[in-house]
Amino acid sequence: MAISQAGDDLGRQARGAATGPTASDRYLTLLKRCLTRYDFDEDLDPVVPGSPLKRQIWAQVSKVLERRDLVAYRKRPFEAWLREEGRDWPTRAETMIGLRRLDNLQECIETVVADGVPGDVLEAGVWRGGAGILMRAVLDVLGDTERTVWLADSFQGLPKPRPEHPADADDKHWTQPFLAVSLDEVKRNFARYDMLDDRVRFLEGWFSDTLPAAPIEQLAVLRADGDMYGSTMDVLDALYAKVSVGGFVIIDDYGEIAQCRAAVEDFRTQHKISEPLQRIDGSGVFWRRRR
Ligand SMILES: C[S@@+](CC[C@H](N)C(=O)[O-])C[C@H]1O[C@@H](n2cnc3c(N)ncnc32)[C@H](O)[C@@H]1O
Repeated sequence: MAISQAGDDLGRQARGAATGPTASDRYLTLLKRCLTRYDFDEDLDPVVPGSPLKRQIWAQVSKVLERRDLVAYRKRPFEAWLREEGRDWPTRAETMIGLRRLDNLQECIETVVADGVPGDVLEAGVWRGGAGILMRAVLDVLGDTERTVWLADSFQGLPKPRPEHPADADDKHWTQPFLAVSLDEVKRNFARYDMLDDRVRFLEGWFSDTLPAAPIEQLAVLRADGDMYGSTMDVLDALYAKVSVGGFVIIDDYGEIAQCRAAVEDFRTQHKISEPLQRIDGSGVFWRRRR
């Protein structure tokens, strides 16, 4: 399928070029850099020794350090393109999706607000909550007081592969503790940026349990970031029908994860969706619902 470059009908850059950045533009740029820890010079990785013996020894050393209130990290040089493209799993940042996909999310929300497309905004697959924090902040900057930001996640990582989705058979995401972030931690992250209020609503549990019955009437932006075939399909099955005409569907992992791409292709074929996919970066794509 042909994929065109992002931004055909998104006019933000053109507006910015004509007038120069406003204080709001600067706030959102700074926010995105904070949420990705872009050029904050603190790429510190936990020390994870390779062999079981070294891990045992390191566990003992860590205990001694801990008693002295010390923590050891391995310093890694900052690589700008990784954070621009969302290609690494950051140690501290609140989002791993990178600046390009955050820009896209901002542009989609700006467009639906400017065009009066009805509905809330939702991310399914939240991790530490950074993309959701940006969603809330963009609505704030635009003076939108009506739309809710919905955040759906197990808050305990990814599910084991299900037999009905053979594409996920070898998926190992569920073994990654790094991807399991509790609801409490996500709420703390929202509070840190002063974005936690009653227009941010959490749907805790597996997508297949929470999304079909979620009390959502309409969506203007649907962002799916669940990595797996089953998770992506669960999101589209439960929520695509609620996306308004003129609204956006964003798929985070299309370019990077074959199972996710397969789910999107299957869903689009089953539902005869012909709106072109637009590329955001090496991983993310989106389309605008036209009918
Ligand atoms: C790659 S992370 C999301 C990254 C995030 N959007 C960000 O801004 O950094 C994937 C998330 O999806 C969640 N997830 C994946 N499949 C799920 C499912 N079927 N039900 C509930 N949560 C799921 C995981 O718990 C994890 O938090």
